[in-house]
Amino acid sequence: MTDASVAAVATFDEEQALDIRERQIAVLGSWRQIGHAILVVSELGVADHLVAGPRTAEELAEATEADADALRRVLRCVATVGVFAERTDGRFELTPLAEGLRADRIGGLRPMVLFSAAAFTRLPYAEIMHSVRTGEPAFDQVFGMSFYQYLEANPEVNRFFEGFMAHWSRRLADRFAGELAPERFGRIADVGGGNGYFLSKMLQRHSTGTGVLLDLPTVVADAEPVLKEHGVTERVTVVAGDFFTDPLPAGCDAYILKSIIHNWPDERCLAILRRVRETIGDTDARLIMIDQIVPPLNQWDHSKIIDLDMLVLFGGKERNLREWQQLLTAGGFELANEPAARGWALLEARPVR
Ligand SMILES: C[S@@+](CC[C@H](N)C(=O)[O-])C[C@H]1O[C@@H](n2cnc3c(N)ncnc32)[C@H](O)[C@@H]1O
Repeated sequence: MTDASVAAVATFDEEQALDIRERQIAVLGSWRQIGHAILVVSELGVADHLVAGPRTAEELAEATEADADALRRVLRCVATVGVFAERTDGRFELTPLAEGLRADRIGGLRPMVLFSAAAFTRLPYAEIMHSVRTGEPAFDQVFGMSFYQYLEANPEVNRFFEGFMAHWSRRLADRFAGELAPERFGRIADVGGGNGYFLSKMLQRHSTGTGVLLDLPTVVADAEPVLKEHGVTERVTVVAGDFFTDPLPAGCDAYILKSIIHNWPDERCLAILRRVRETIGDTDARLIMIDQIVPPLNQWDHSKIIDLDMLVLFGGKERNLREWQQLLTAGGFELANEPAARGWALLEARPVR
């Protein structure tokens, strides 16, 4: 190879590389178009309509009650990032990425896309700068009330949120049941336990155990069918209450806080932990938290993305292991297990006397 041709190749490679970098930035910077297009195909359930095989935009439009030309353009857009593929015969087909949008995938991402796209989670992002400048939730700025006050005032939205949390619980209940080992405990309190899905799953594995489900009134109002479906109604006491102000259930052997702590800033978390610690008193009851642990440096972890929801919607945060340990110590607990290094983890703590 002559010097000139080496230089030519180098220039060509550089240009290609630049092109790819520019394309990546174009994709990242085009989140509005791409994100909305992914929302559209998720809401229309396009992936489900392709399970039986490739279909044209016209066929998909008919099945989903959409305009064929508009839908084709949306599909063409998401195909640029690998969600569906456009074939030479004009039909669209599933890709590995699009598989994750199928409604029948328990671990799939469709509920997360729909959650991210819903107005009550999406609109506050228009004011993300407020959160970044002040550390306060943009949600309150946009809606004039906190996230959970808004859910209390909007039962439909609340039910949607409960369904979304149950989706996460389905992903996490089996994964953590072994580590949680509910059969160790006679009586289990799930504090902020939502509609009771997770507690029900734990009690199904522990036929002699009993439980207490505490959450806000509008939330526990939806618990009965969930407890009934799991056959645990008789063993669960349902308490409508506020974990900041109402007494926590006394006399339990374990206090679960699942996806609770990450919703709150440190001082509110401490208030919750100290209330649990007070309730535990001199007993050997355990505190069990299921939440995310942020790994160091540049490691990919979903917690680093969800963390922005915690900031913008709640004024909460995802925490690294050191931050978790600081919270536990200040709350009167010490870690009693070795939690996963990153992502969803179970943190078990014993009271310090
Ligand atoms: C992120 S959800 C987690 C629900 C459930 N633990 C789960 O993992 O599916 C947070 C829960 O905390 C409840 N919550 C928020 N503020 C509360 C309060 N002050 N008192 C009691 N529950 C509260 C919400 O209603 C909601 O069910």
